[in-house]
Amino acid sequence: MADKPPVALENRGEGEDGRRYSPSVARNRDPIREALAQVFIPPARVLEIASGTGEHGAFLTSGLPGLHWTYSDLDGDSLVSQRAWQQADTAGRLAGPLRIDASAQDWGDAESLAPWDAVFCANMVHIAPWPAAVGLICGAGRLLRPGGLLILYGPFARSGAMAPSNAAFDESLKLRNPDWGVRDLDRDLVPLADASGLALQSVTDMPANNLLVRFRKPG
Ligand SMILES: C[S@@+](CC[C@H](N)C(=O)[O-])C[C@H]1O[C@@H](n2cnc3c(N)ncnc32)[C@H](O)[C@@H]1O
Repeated sequence: MADKPPVALENRGEGEDGRRYSPSVARNRDPIREALAQVFIPPARVLEIASGTGEHGAFLTSGLPGLHWTYSDLDGDSLVSQRAWQQADTAGRLAGPLRIDASAQDWGDAESLAPWDAVFCANMVHIAPWPAAVGLICGAGRLLRPGGLLILYGPFARSGAMAPSNAAFDESLKLRNPDWGVRDLDRDLVPLADASGLALQSVTDMPANNLLVRFRKPG
């Protein structure tokens, strides 16, 4: 049988209990936690889309008391790792994983568990075909409570401009898969968010030319 195409750009390490580890999360988890500490007023129920290994949820809940985090992904191997992280959680603040394809119009169990205080998604929008970004923003608009936040982390262009490292990354993504690519926050995502009832609230510069972007559902 042919190997399935990779869902991430790096090799993920795996522990004996099934928990996987990704080098990029080791680099970005501290700055993300620092930025999110300014954002959440606990208690907060967060739905994560495209949780990957599951490390963000485990690390962020361990450092931010009052945060309750539900994992999800489309990819079977990632769901297995998220399950292992959820089972290793002693604080009882990790839930899921749910199987969610962000591009779908119905997010299954996440619909009945709504409204959510926040939807968090790191590093999916550029490593998935465009309909995943469309579905992500529509889903957040549909399932967030009034006042709830959609939080995105990753590389983005701003009004047609990109850091040189992101432009090179964009080219390499498109060589792997022509449907992938660094998206433009202002030209691509903000209009979609407007149409889904979400307003751009803040953009925070993060290390390595990444951004932490917050959209808010009015209310
Ligand atoms: C580069 S990994 C990022 C994982 C994790 N968020 C992180 O920052 O380490 C991209 C993830 O997006 C997931 N993904 C891709 N397309 C998706 C979709 N349409 N719906 C949900 N998840 C998707 C993949 O399965 C993979 O886990």
